[in-house]
Amino acid sequence: MSAAPGTNGVLVDRYGRVARDLRVSLTDKCNLRCTYCMPAEGLPWLAGPELLTDEEIVRLVRVAVERLGVTEVRFTGGEPLIRPGLVGIVTAVAALRPRPRISLTTNGIGLDRLAPALSAAGLDRVNVSLDTLDADRFTRLTRRPRLDAVLAGLAGAAAAGLSPVKINSVLMRGVNEDEAPALLRFALDHDYQLRIIEQMPLDAQHGWDRSTMVTAEEILTSLRTVFDLSPDPAERGAAPAETWLVDGGPARVGVIASVTRPFCGDCDRTRLTADGQVRACLFATEESDLRAALRADADDDELARRWRTAMWGKRAGHGIDDPTFLQPTRPMSAIGG
Ligand code: GTP
Ligand code: 5AD
Ligand code: SF4
Repeated sequence: MSAAPGTNGVLVDRYGRVARDLRVSLTDKCNLRCTYCMPAEGLPWLAGPELLTDEEIVRLVRVAVERLGVTEVRFTGGEPLIRPGLVGIVTAVAALRPRPRISLTTNGIGLDRLAPALSAAGLDRVNVSLDTLDADRFTRLTRRPRLDAVLAGLAGAAAAGLSPVKINSVLMRGVNEDEAPALLRFALDHDYQLRIIEQMPLDAQHGWDRSTMVTAEEILTSLRTVFDLSPDPAERGAAPAETWLVDGGPARVGVIASVTRPFCGDCDRTRLTADGQVRACLFATEESDLRAALRADADDDELARRWRTAMWGKRAGHGIDDPTFLQPTRPMSAIGG
């Protein structure tokens, strides 16, 4: 076991994991209503004063990069493209030293228009959520008729050099479980990197049910009806996605099997919510309030100390399989995925 956190150094936990990958949620709002995420009417959104300002976000990211050894910064939501200050935030984070790698996870709506400015600001790459290529299914699944906007967003990201452009697809039984091969064909044709995701118990409606979850095993079986998949020789590191070479490579496909093949032992993530709470894990039941400290004039040392303390308490795993498992109170859209 490592020593407890002091006033210097990286974000280490009691199991010896070091968090170098910071995920920052920029808003809990979204312009889609994916059925596995939100109810049709949306959610009670955070109020304006609860949200960190752009300056507060940049300050906390600076503390993470300069004092805590964070080397990767990913912006998430809700939908991060609807945050008005996004380009300015990316510009400020790209100016930090050592410069972190900067990425974004988005539903892609508006990305065709924003991709050039984001790339110029210093964004390195994007992941776009797309669960189906069928327009009617898309509308049923997201409750908005915006498939064309997402496809345009993907193309815009590639044209702006935000690569590798990755696609995230969540498969749901009776909804789009048959679409894995078509999604992979589409990704191969456009040079996007597909990752298929097991649905996790993070929906606001608490409707997740293990028996209806499409498992990694089923995803691989479905893909293998059309493609040859062989083990990827590349190091996986802390990546949630396990990857396979498609038809001998170099194209790859990923499967993110958080439930049936958990990767918590290699986790290198720390999270900041849009209202300034540090979460040690997607499934954490505790948060550490950096916003209150920040607004009470804490200096950078104090913010760093609180962040280290929060991460030290990170649990060994998400515990979805434990009988005592409790879904986090906040839904995915308010945590940032
Ligand atoms: P890359 O760095 O491009 O590989 O991104 P990523 O896959 O880590 O992030 P992305 O935002 O695209 O998320 C893809 C899926 O992985 C989503 O369903 C996330 O909720 C899930 N995910 C991201 N981080 C974690 C994590 O720490 N634990 C678990 N269980 N799932 C995660
Ligand atoms: N389980 C797994 N992935 C999810 N996402 C949203 N909700 C869930 C869930 N319950 C995905 C989105 C997006 C990323 C941030 O997380 O599709 O790609
Ligand atoms: Fe929006 Fe993402 Fe939730 Fe869909 S999954 S409603 S795109 S936050």
